[in-house]
Amino acid sequence: MNKNNNIFKLSVLSVIFILSLSSTLIVNGDNDFIVGVCTHLMSPPVSLTTVTPPLDAAIGAGLASVRDTPYWSSVEFVKGQLTEIYEFNDFMVALQPRTSLSKLFILGNGNQHYNNGQKPQGTNITVAFTNYVQWVVNKYKGKVQFYEVWNEWDLDDPGNPNTATHYMQLANAAIPVIRANDPNAKILGGCITSDGMDQLFGDRVIQQGLATKVDGLSIHPYNFCGGTDNTPEVWFRWVNLTNTRWTGLRNGVATPLYITEMTWPSSHPSTCGSTLEIQAAYLARVYFLARVIPNIKGMWWYDIFDDGVDFYDREHNFGLLDHNWSPKPAYFTMKSITPFISNYTYDATKSVLASGSLYKLAFYRNLTGGAQHRVISAWSSNNAATVTTTLTTQSVVPLDLVKVWYTTPYANMDGQWVNSGFKWTCVGFDCTATVTVGKFPVIFDVTGVKCACLP
Ligand SMILES: *[C@@H]1O[C@H](CO)[C@@H](O)[C@H](O)[C@H]1NC(C)=O
Ligand SMILES: *[C@@H]1O[C@H](CO)[C@@H](O)[C@H](O)[C@H]1NC(C)=O
Ligand SMILES: *[C@@H]1O[C@H](CO)[C@@H](O)[C@H](O)[C@H]1NC(C)=O
Ligand SMILES: *[C@@H]1O[C@H](CO)[C@@H](O)[C@H](O)[C@H]1NC(C)=O
Repeated sequence: MNKNNNIFKLSVLSVIFILSLSSTLIVNGDNDFIVGVCTHLMSPPVSLTTVTPPLDAAIGAGLASVRDTPYWSSVEFVKGQLTEIYEFNDFMVALQPRTSLSKLFILGNGNQHYNNGQKPQGTNITVAFTNYVQWVVNKYKGKVQFYEVWNEWDLDDPGNPNTATHYMQLANAAIPVIRANDPNAKILGGCITSDGMDQLFGDRVIQQGLATKVDGLSIHPYNFCGGTDNTPEVWFRWVNLTNTRWTGLRNGVATPLYITEMTWPSSHPSTCGSTLEIQAAYLARVYFLARVIPNIKGMWWYDIFDDGVDFYDREHNFGLLDHNWSPKPAYFTMKSITPFISNYTYDATKSVLASGSLYKLAFYRNLTGGAQHRVISAWSSNNAATVTTTLTTQSVVPLDLVKVWYTTPYANMDGQWVNSGFKWTCVGFDCTATVTVGKFPVIFDVTGVKCACLP
């Protein structure tokens, strides 16, 4: 939005438009959405010099949060002695001036001195775990915005009711300790896996009161192994259905949901991998779709950079950056969407979900003086075929070319509006344009040029 000057090369209309935009300040939305990323920067062998480049890459892409783990196994390396390892300190030092990044800390996992490093279960072990929680939250009081109680507790045996009961024993012990030590931090509970969603772990912890004790539930709704159902659009229907069910369990109260991990790997197809291009396209689509469900409050991509270079190892191919911190296509696409995902508000009344393969999502941002910047993000859910649709807007002057903002990593998309080949046709104040989109969302400026004479 601040680089508009390059693009409106044309007519008087452009001048009017630039003036109208530059003379208005943007008003912050009241429902900003957190676009974050998971990192593994608190674990040895990182150092201050290896921590800062990925964090700066995250900031460069417009990301607003990092999620990492001060592992219990590191904090209580010697039984009964709780100490900060230097990697944690480096991480905090690196983040201190990088204030645009909020921090989400996972409190977990097992510890070698308790239950053979397995899940902390049983009264005495829960006490040991809460001692660790108390140490972390007290140590980083005021510096960490979110705490998540354990990571994927339901990973083994998600359908067993005991899995939920045991998680609740841990959560019930940890939550008051977090609250007491840092009342301003938000607490996320559940950290529910895909199987935990489907095999009712999430339902069970809600029925046992978790949603009323935390500030939000966290979920990891992966579907990259879903075969032909591995798309963001299938993901959306599944997450919406689960959310609807969970809202029903609470008599219509929607629980704030934080998607603390989401990804598609760019590994070999035999490991449920997608191409680099599909990884990027799905990233854009899943972020726009997440905004459709109002109680989803943020989504953290898993993760910032590839853990290795083996094409056949899925864990080596989740990153926005490759293993040497070079941007993958998904990074550029992420950078192109964050201004809209973070700061625009979804408008269901002007959106079309799934008319055939067409997805056409409307977003707006309030400007001072009552004006709004309005955009449409449109794409085809069929990766192999484009889809055509009509845009409408109103304008007191005839409009010419439709301004677009690309999310395709190979297009001219360096954070600016450009003129597309699509043209507006205006009859009076009413303008329409026929546009065609493919698998990458294209963001269309449908603000129009208004005056008091228009609604
Ligand atoms: C934008 O402004 C409209 C009209 O004043 C208001 O109804 C709406 O709540 C605002 N939206 C946001 C996200 O602030
Ligand atoms: C739990 O701790 C108490 C007090 O330290 C001790 O008496 C008891 O034996 C412990 N129980 C187990 C199962 O380790
Ligand atoms: C979400 O699912 C519910 C229940 O099936 C449905 O009524 C609703 O229309 C869905 N929302 C969207 C945006 O598709
Ligand atoms: C969203 O808006 C805030 C406040 O104006 C700004 O600081 C931030 O950079 C914006 N985020 C993106 C990704 O543009």
